[in-house]
Amino acid sequence: MTYYVDAEEHPATDRQGVAQLPPWGETRVVGKPLSRVDAYERVTGSAVYTLDLTLPDMLHAAIVRCPHAHARVTRVDTSRAERMPGVRAVLTGASPGADIPWHIGRQGPTSRLFDTHCRYAGEEVAAVAAETPHQAWDATRAVAVEYEVLPFVVDVDAAVRPDAPQVHEGGNRLGAPRVSERGDVRAGFAQADVVVEGTYRTSCELHTTMETYVSVVRWDGSRLTVWDSTQGVFATRAGLARILDLPLSSVRVICPYMGGGFGSKFEVGKHTIIAALLARMTGQPVKAAVLREESFLSQGNRPANVIRLRAGAKRDGTLTALEGTFTGVVGAYPTGGTAPFQVEALYRCPNVRVEASDVYVNAGRGCAFRAPGFPPCNWALEQLMDELAGKLGMDPVDLRLKNLTTVLQSQGNMPFTSMGLGECLTRGAEAFGWRAARERPPAVGHVVRGVGMAAGMWGYQGEPRSTVILKLYADSSVNLNMGASDIGTGTKTVMAMVVAEELGVPLERIQIEHADTATTQYAPVSGGSQTVLVNAPAVRAAAADVKRQILEIAAAEMQCQVGDLVLADGKVARADGSGEARPVSALRGLQERDVLVGVGRRHPHPEGKIALPFAAQFAEVEVNTRTGEVRVVRLVAAHDSGRVMNLKTYENQVFGGMTMGVGFALMEQRVLDPQTGKMANANWHDYKIPTAMDVPLEQTCVPVDPHDTECNTTGAKGLGEPATIPTAAAIANAVHHAIGVRVTEAPITPMQVLQLLAARREGE
Ligand code: MOS
Repeated sequence: MTYYVDAEEHPATDRQGVAQLPPWGETRVVGKPLSRVDAYERVTGSAVYTLDLTLPDMLHAAIVRCPHAHARVTRVDTSRAERMPGVRAVLTGASPGADIPWHIGRQGPTSRLFDTHCRYAGEEVAAVAAETPHQAWDATRAVAVEYEVLPFVVDVDAAVRPDAPQVHEGGNRLGAPRVSERGDVRAGFAQADVVVEGTYRTSCELHTTMETYVSVVRWDGSRLTVWDSTQGVFATRAGLARILDLPLSSVRVICPYMGGGFGSKFEVGKHTIIAALLARMTGQPVKAAVLREESFLSQGNRPANVIRLRAGAKRDGTLTALEGTFTGVVGAYPTGGTAPFQVEALYRCPNVRVEASDVYVNAGRGCAFRAPGFPPCNWALEQLMDELAGKLGMDPVDLRLKNLTTVLQSQGNMPFTSMGLGECLTRGAEAFGWRAARERPPAVGHVVRGVGMAAGMWGYQGEPRSTVILKLYADSSVNLNMGASDIGTGTKTVMAMVVAEELGVPLERIQIEHADTATTQYAPVSGGSQTVLVNAPAVRAAAADVKRQILEIAAAEMQCQVGDLVLADGKVARADGSGEARPVSALRGLQERDVLVGVGRRHPHPEGKIALPFAAQFAEVEVNTRTGEVRVVRLVAAHDSGRVMNLKTYENQVFGGMTMGVGFALMEQRVLDPQTGKMANANWHDYKIPTAMDVPLEQTCVPVDPHDTECNTTGAKGLGEPATIPTAAAIANAVHHAIGVRVTEAPITPMQVLQLLAARREGE
């Protein structure tokens, strides 16, 4: 599977001669539940996020956005705005150098930075730079824009009708459906004793990152420096260089702290280019901060899906056929839509056919969002599996255990380096008390409980290119230099722990310099659940390089062979225990050099195998049959993401992922007003996300480590995305277990629950 993050071309890192270290044995630091190395800065507010940054003489940008779902800009008059107090520049598509082609993603349609054809409410029309944010905002209202309002379409069924308003010329389908097929589905269904089918719908979700979208831009002559809230400084640099036609060496992108992206901060934003242009016009630094409401309209989302699925199985539960039609509702400028991967790959099944297509509507664009396409696919597949288990009279866990596979069937039956789903299912069920909970007699009264589960997998094993530089100073303190952004997952902490593991240097003596294209080496974006598994092996290799140099120096000074020495707790000692251990800082060779520099590179992926993570999650819910309310009372997550690098950040990822899953299942939904085409809940009051009151107190994380020695030199697979994939389906299955009705449309609102219960009563 390719991933959105490949959208920009990067210079290839030379991978020749990358030595691969043997797997770790017992670890001393890695795996421990350690607090984050930057916890103090983060919780006290002293950490400077891009949103906090202020430069001398800095101006503030504000963007004029189209208020219509579909319109043509016929005239833009900036004269009044230019005379507003504090205004230094007004930028439109007619400004010098601003008529820039805009291309999102590899296949997406091309438009302009300020396109006169506005395809959704919130599209960028013009921008202002002023001395204060308020002056800039006031001035945007003084920009007079005339629109020719066009008919719009925001409903997916309406969008594919032949007479629908066209979001882009050529119709509202993004090309022909993508079909993938193996075996003979028709024969597979003919062999089946039981067939189940269903149509599932999921809602468009918004990323709601704590830090919104913000760039601070400064020109020094022809050199551009950009502080950006981004998941990848190198991807942002590549985009800026391409769009502004600058050499890579002239663009510096920095991201010291980052307040969440979830896939929405992979590409250069229009606000970043706008800031760069305004800064060039004014000769002053410019900050462009996208407000919460604007971000809901224009910074991407998880596309709504419509999924039709059919499954056939033998009486004993063996799957014989799976068939699915997937439609992603991707908005006006998509970077990714629907993803049937799990239907093709999660369970052993010889006959599979999936058809996937994406449809434009007049709304903000779909983009990558924590496991792009996977939670919607899982919502459908895992509810259908639950349905199938019911029809077969099988336990849902047993049905899944019956259909495990150790190969990636959609990729020539390529073996997985490890596959711990069976263990996730059995150990998760045990930790949850699944069998007993499943058989508990139904509660009396109007508040009823139920339990459900779902399995899942993630489909991307990362882009294996990362170069890390490690410096050991004369006092044996360390500087770790890496390109990766820490998007809030604890990347810096985990990488420091890898250094501590290899060199025996305590965490507080390791300083980290990261996510700065001018001073660090290439790392791919922090996304796709690849950050640890791509960067940690490079960090480990850099540490091993330094360690080799220490031992070489020590061997010369201690008059022995390198192989006779070990490095532990910051001291070099003879492996046989003879003689005195020597502190690293006491080595003369280190004092003479002042610094030892190690370079580490990520090794390529194993050949002929693929490393992917797996998960099984279990939910208990309480449904109030009078109000229709659903409360999640308990969650258990059993994950095979390979080695646990830090138990605390591991649990953080799992609990955070499940919290997003609770949002997906019960509340998150972009509402587009069918009468105006505008988003009706573009604020944090009306767009509901789970709060502390909505997530269960009882959440348990069960790490399953298959001791994968092949995936990479750390044994860690990805965790960030798998953590959110099966949660919503597990909750839906628990709701079905509780009240006997199946809610196929996410989110499970009280209204839906009441309507389904009423419909069932009428049918009785
Ligand atoms: Mo993610 S959607 O790879 O940040």
